[in-house]
Amino acid sequence: MCGIVGYAGYRQAYPILLESLKRLEYRGYDSAGVAIVGSGITVQKDKGYISQLEETAEAVPGTLGIAHTRWATHGPPSKENAHPHIDCTGDLALIHNGIIENHQPLRDRLKGEGHVFRSETDTEVAAHLIESLYHGDLEGAVREALHEIRGSYAFAVIHSKEPDKVVAARNESPLVVGLGTDENFLASDIPALLKHTNRVLYVMDGEIVVLGRDSVRITDYEGKPIAREPQRITWTLEDAEKGGFEHFMLKEIFEEPQAIHDTLLGRVAEPELNSFFREGYTGVKLVACGTSYHAALVGKYVLEEIARIPTTAELASEYRYSKAPADRPLVILLSQSGETADTLGACREANRRGCKTFAIANVIGSSLSREAQRTMLTRAGIEIGVAATKTFVAQLAALYLLAIRIGLERATLGVEEANRLNEDLRRLPRAVQAVLNQAPYIEGLAQEYAKARDVFFIGRHLGYPIAMEGALKLKEISYVHAEAYAAGELKHGPLALVGSDTPVVAIVTRDHTYDKMLSNIREVDARGAPVLAIGTEGDKDLGKIVDNVIYVPAVPPLFAPVPVVVALQLFAYHVARVRGCAIDKPRNLAKSVTVE
Ligand code: F6R
Repeated sequence: MCGIVGYAGYRQAYPILLESLKRLEYRGYDSAGVAIVGSGITVQKDKGYISQLEETAEAVPGTLGIAHTRWATHGPPSKENAHPHIDCTGDLALIHNGIIENHQPLRDRLKGEGHVFRSETDTEVAAHLIESLYHGDLEGAVREALHEIRGSYAFAVIHSKEPDKVVAARNESPLVVGLGTDENFLASDIPALLKHTNRVLYVMDGEIVVLGRDSVRITDYEGKPIAREPQRITWTLEDAEKGGFEHFMLKEIFEEPQAIHDTLLGRVAEPELNSFFREGYTGVKLVACGTSYHAALVGKYVLEEIARIPTTAELASEYRYSKAPADRPLVILLSQSGETADTLGACREANRRGCKTFAIANVIGSSLSREAQRTMLTRAGIEIGVAATKTFVAQLAALYLLAIRIGLERATLGVEEANRLNEDLRRLPRAVQAVLNQAPYIEGLAQEYAKARDVFFIGRHLGYPIAMEGALKLKEISYVHAEAYAAGELKHGPLALVGSDTPVVAIVTRDHTYDKMLSNIREVDARGAPVLAIGTEGDKDLGKIVDNVIYVPAVPPLFAPVPVVVALQLFAYHVARVRGCAIDKPRNLAKSVTVE
């Protein structure tokens, strides 16, 4: 996730672009850059926050330009990898938010044609591709290039030979036009526009915009004009930064279909992972903290089932002090931030023990991604709410991908079966969306449960780590005491605590533990506990034996943790909201835990 802005008008573009860009810093802030059309194009960029760019850049004159704040996905944060990217001639500058899925074959081809690349980014490919198609018509060249580019993107491009326009395009990444008088604006998101205008045009997938000082033209990829009525935005700036959601956490939960989609994009046959997993270990150890540890627990079942490899999950804070076993497992470290001190310590320890180390992290260039031997990025974009939500489902998506890859490389999984699993994976964003559509119902339920002092979460098999994650979400943001138990363990102790004032949240999706879960529900029901079940759509019988049910779409049992956890995140969010808690910044907690 990056932020892009563009301006075409009568005022000096430089201060407007930088000021607007700062409003998008929540979308990413590892490097920034600006390009202004004056006499030729001047590009200035730097690593770090936009404030750093301001210190090093000059306010070059010009009334048209583009600017970018980056959240790295291809190539670490650096001056070279910062946007805008230019073509070989320096006449064209381009900014991009998203991922170009087929960047490698395009790069190879363009290099073969003599184009010289200056960065490691997927984005630079688009600059050279448009250059190769440019014959005096920027809009036409962009249109042609888009027929070749696969992936998600919002682009904005300028050319010194056509100094009166910004050409932009969108597919699966946000883009909005702001309409002014004798000036027009372009941005990834509304906050960048609000200081100047509240009249906007939303650009849709498959559309190209040509932005001029006194005109805005939208067409489809074939050049057919599209008429669109402007909308008037009534949000305050703070509302706008949260995309109109009351809290970042809710916004981020609603970004989950995109987070999963982006994490999967182009990964099915990712060349750089090939052969890493083929040999050199007999088992896998997943190591992480907090929510990432819960993803690791799910990963244990997933790797054992898909890749048929013995797997354990361990807390990073414990792994570091365990004895090194004689065999050396593949150690997979999961961390949203990539900066968690215990996870970093575990990575160093695993390296020291001679293990292969692999990180799943959300922040490129983070310490963990540098210290592990290989890294897979979860492309969830920046997460601001302290409670991890979209990064958790992105971690699960990465673990499914990894299990398929390991299974294929070790030949414990057939190609046909892998293809079927990949298809199931691709359907997950839709299943998540179906849960999100039930947010108003879950909000209503939360009213009922918000007064509870203690809540128990129960599940079996894959439902158990998800119960743990549901309990963690509830306790950290609503301060309700919440505990998770493997449902089979209830009668070995915790049942003594269950009564009419201890609601039980039970995960009862359709899998091989279903009947046993029903028995556990009867046990708590007999002690008077109100039961909220998370069940599979169509399971009418479940509704008859519990007090409330949140139904999630039927997906293959191995993938059920994804829709189920979304329901639990929404439940925790709404309970916390009813209780008036500081949801995005819960007491005593920090987003990145850099102390042991
Ligand atoms: C809970 C939460 C924490 C983190 C934990 C590890 O919502 O966010 O439990 O999961 O601090 O952080 P990362 O994943 O950055 O290593």
